[in-house]
This record gives sequence, C-alpha cells and structure tokens, in this order.
Amino acid sequence: MRGKVTVVGAGMVGATTAQYLAQKDYADIVLVDIVEKLPQGKALDLMQAGPVVGYDTRITGANSYDATAGSDVVVITSGSPRKPGMSRDDLLRVNMNIVGSVTQEIVGRSPDCVIVVVTNPLDAMCHVALQRSGFPSERVIGQAGVLDSARFRAFIARELDVSIEDVTAFVLGGHGDTMVPLPRYSTVAGIPITELLPAERIGEIAARTANGGGEIVQLLGTSAYYAPAASVVEMVDAIMLDKNRVIPCSVYLQGQYGIQDLYVGVPVKLGAGGLKQILEITLTDEEGAALQRSAGAVRELVEAMDRLGAEAQ
Ligand code: LAC
Repeated sequence: MRGKVTVVGAGMVGATTAQYLAQKDYADIVLVDIVEKLPQGKALDLMQAGPVVGYDTRITGANSYDATAGSDVVVITSGSPRKPGMSRDDLLRVNMNIVGSVTQEIVGRSPDCVIVVVTNPLDAMCHVALQRSGFPSERVIGQAGVLDSARFRAFIARELDVSIEDVTAFVLGGHGDTMVPLPRYSTVAGIPITELLPAERIGEIAARTANGGGEIVQLLGTSAYYAPAASVVEMVDAIMLDKNRVIPCSVYLQGQYGIQDLYVGVPVKLGAGGLKQILEITLTDEEGAALQRSAGAVRELVEAMDRLGAEAQ
C-alpha cells in the first residue's frame, strides 16, 4: 500500500514540498490549508501534472483535517513567513499559536505519525509541536540542517567548480544567525574543504550560508521555498523509505553535546519512525563554543514562549 504524507500549509513551501514529493511517486499526499479553495486548486493542478511528469500520486486538497487521518508523516509549514528586515525570531508570537493549533488537529487523527516541523523560528516551533503532540521526541523533528547544509554545499561547489554530487557539508546549531557551518566535516570527495580553500574564503562562504535565508528574503520579499521544500522531501524520503540517512536535523537533545532538553540541529540517523540515533561527533573548542552559543539563542526563544504562554493565561 502507498504511504500517506500530509503537508499542512499550501503556501510556497508547502505547495512546493507537495510538488517535489508527488514526483517521488511513493506516497499519496494531503495538502491542508485554512484558506478556502487554495489547497484544492493546488492539489488539482499537481494531479494534472502527473501524466506529463509521470507520477500516479494522489493529491488531495482540504480545509478540514479529517482528510489527513492515518498519515505516516505530517509536515508543518503553516505560519507567517519572513518579510525583509525580519529575523526568523520575529515570527515567534504568531507562529507559536499556529503551530500549536495545527499540532492539536493532527495528533488525534494520525497518532502514529512522524511530525516534520518547517515553520520558523524552527527550533522553537519544534518545542511547540513536541509539547502539544505529547509524542515521543523521536517523532517530532525539525527541518533546518539539510537546508543549511545544502546552501553550504551549493556555495562550495560553485567556488571550486566541482559537481555538487561530490560535495558534502555539515551545518549544526539552531536555524538562525548563530548556526554553525563545520568546514572540517565538509568535504569534496572526502577531502575536507580546509585542504582546498583558504580559511578566509571558507569564512566568507560560511557567513553567506548562515545568512542564506536572509539573502533570499531580501531578493524575493518573502522566504525561500525551493531549497527548503527539497530539504523537507529528503527527510520525508528518509522516513518513508526507512533509509537511515545521516543528515543534520533539529532534534530534542537530552544531554548530548552537553545540551539539555532543547531542540538544536545535530547529525542524526533518520529512518522509519523518525529519529533513530543522535550522532555525537568531536568538536574543537571553538566549534563547541559556537554550538553552545547557538543553543543559547534557541533557549532564549523557548523562554520567551514560556513568558508569552504565561501572559496569555
Ligand atoms: C530559510 C527559511 C525558510 O532559511 O528559514 O530560507
């Protein structure tokens, strides 16, 4: 039987996720949005692309969550996107309420699903989904590291004029300005880029990576969506096809890397049922300090949400 993946939010990230996922042709898709007619229209359009592109994926658009029942994976993209001049953190208040109510709608109907969170500020929104779902943390995972690493890989490949197929890269930490690109663990065919590029140039590429989302917001006036959606689909593939991919994801750390009860991006093994293992790699003092700084920025947001939650009561 084909699997079932729900994508909540039929905006640019959600609809593009549905598009890339439909092309994979292994799961049926439900696209949900509160805006009337929008998910239905996009689902119909995507279905009609099937004969040309070559997929049998059934895509259903819905305003009600009933259509999502029994999903294997639920991707949450809903929320307000960034506008120029805004940081991801500026979205905290509005998006915590949206992600909270979406999670509530999902869990009763798909009690065994894996939730992949995409809404910003990413790591903080994972906390909301974890708390509201009551799921074990293995089944609530945030998409950020695949995207941030993809940006790093794209820039490295362009810089060295080599195929992206030979470039791997790792970016750790929160999905924000303090994210931590790791040049030592970023390679071209296994050769660390520290052997191939001067430190100064690596620093510039790492800085462009950390600002990768912001650069696109400046150009488009809203958030990126092609690379974010492609990154979500890589995670959905890993889960649905039980691939045991080793990729950076935002997961709930309970002591790993010296970080307690906090969602932060680290390398994990991702497969059926979600998170299978957190990989603890050795960091230099400088890398470790950068990861702690990034975790500190996530913790500030989680504490701000606690204050906002208390105010609302
Ligand atoms: C980005 C947004 C989606 O990094 O967070 O482009």
